[in-house]
Amino acid sequence: MRYSLRCFECKEEIEDQRAYTCENCGGLLEVVLDLSSVEAERVFDERSPSVWKYKELLPVDREPITLQEGGTPLYRCRSLEERLGINELYVKHEGMNPTGSFKDRGMTVGVTKALEFQAKGVICASTGNTSASLAVYASRASLPAYVLLPSGKVALGKIAQALMHGAKVICIKGNFDDSLRIVREISKNPDFYLLNSINPFRLEGQKTIAFEIYDQMKGIPDAVVVPVGNAGNISAIFKGFLELRELGVIEEVPRMIGVQAEGASPIADAFEKRETEIEPVERPETIATAIRIGSPVNAKKALNAIYRSKGYALKVSDDEITEAQKDLARVEGIGVEPASASSLAGLKKALEIGVVERDEKVVCVTTGHLLKDPEEVLVVCGTPLEVEADVRAVLRAMELEN
Ligand code: F0G
Repeated sequence: MRYSLRCFECKEEIEDQRAYTCENCGGLLEVVLDLSSVEAERVFDERSPSVWKYKELLPVDREPITLQEGGTPLYRCRSLEERLGINELYVKHEGMNPTGSFKDRGMTVGVTKALEFQAKGVICASTGNTSASLAVYASRASLPAYVLLPSGKVALGKIAQALMHGAKVICIKGNFDDSLRIVREISKNPDFYLLNSINPFRLEGQKTIAFEIYDQMKGIPDAVVVPVGNAGNISAIFKGFLELRELGVIEEVPRMIGVQAEGASPIADAFEKRETEIEPVERPETIATAIRIGSPVNAKKALNAIYRSKGYALKVSDDEITEAQKDLARVEGIGVEPASASSLAGLKKALEIGVVERDEKVVCVTTGHLLKDPEEVLVVCGTPLEVEADVRAVLRAMELEN
């Protein structure tokens, strides 16, 4: 695959393949693929979906570090369709990836690039999932991994993964935005390859969500609803759809709808004013700790995706998030962590305000698995009952006997 790096903002070509931002203007970078020699029919063939099914569309020149990521289920949700009064609703459950989140799609590419660049170690800031995924792929690549987390604000399942897979886990007395600022500084040293979503190669892996949606639906939906934190994923999925259009596989791209939590909503706020730049939120707060981010690094890319696709950005409350989480779990059997449920909560709102019409076909992306955040479950569902070890007591607890 022939490709180059380009500044997303000033469009300058970037020589240094390991750069994270543009030397001239400080802008975000993007990978530009030469799609002229790609045979789309060969790529989108009968092989079952997975990230590396689309290797012809990925900027990688060596054997990948892989755990068979991608190929996640796309569930038709008929019960929720009925409840919400929408024609066709699908959930793309990214929690079914090897480490339980969509980050694996990016890490399989990103850690493979780290080896290609002969980095001595990999590093990231994280609200949890990125650190878990980085730890796992780094262990498979025999690279040391260093992860910075906001102390006390990362779900237990994610910390457990990062620890068990051998990353050096450092909790800082600050939030995610502080953590990212610090790792960006540290990764000026070329020994450390930075694998946050500012890394343009990581987003290449994540764009395969768009390819899979197309493959699994044999077409595209009217809208794709995505939880937004650091804003890499919505940008990556949009890029995937743009490439499908460039290849002539699809004619139009779906509307990209980004959803943020009310306490951490700089992108939804910017969209409300139809601006292209965000005003950072100083002290972000939400039960959806994965998207507890006040200054999303990919904000410009995400807003571009939203405006260019004629999409929308909105925010939902913590109560709306937990209600949607329960709906997915109890009505459809789909277990997701709070941040993931914001996509369904966002869709409900989008239907109410007419941003999505009831006769449309929509995909909600659920980004992480329920088991990531068991502590939140106990908060919103309560702890289990404990009774004496006898039949009467249990029947009483079952509310079958007084
Ligand atoms: N959903 C989950 C479960 C996440 O972990 C994240 C991001 C997002 C949504 C938002 O994706 O940042 O691309 O807009 N988690 C990052 C992390 C920040 O460190 O794990 P985004």
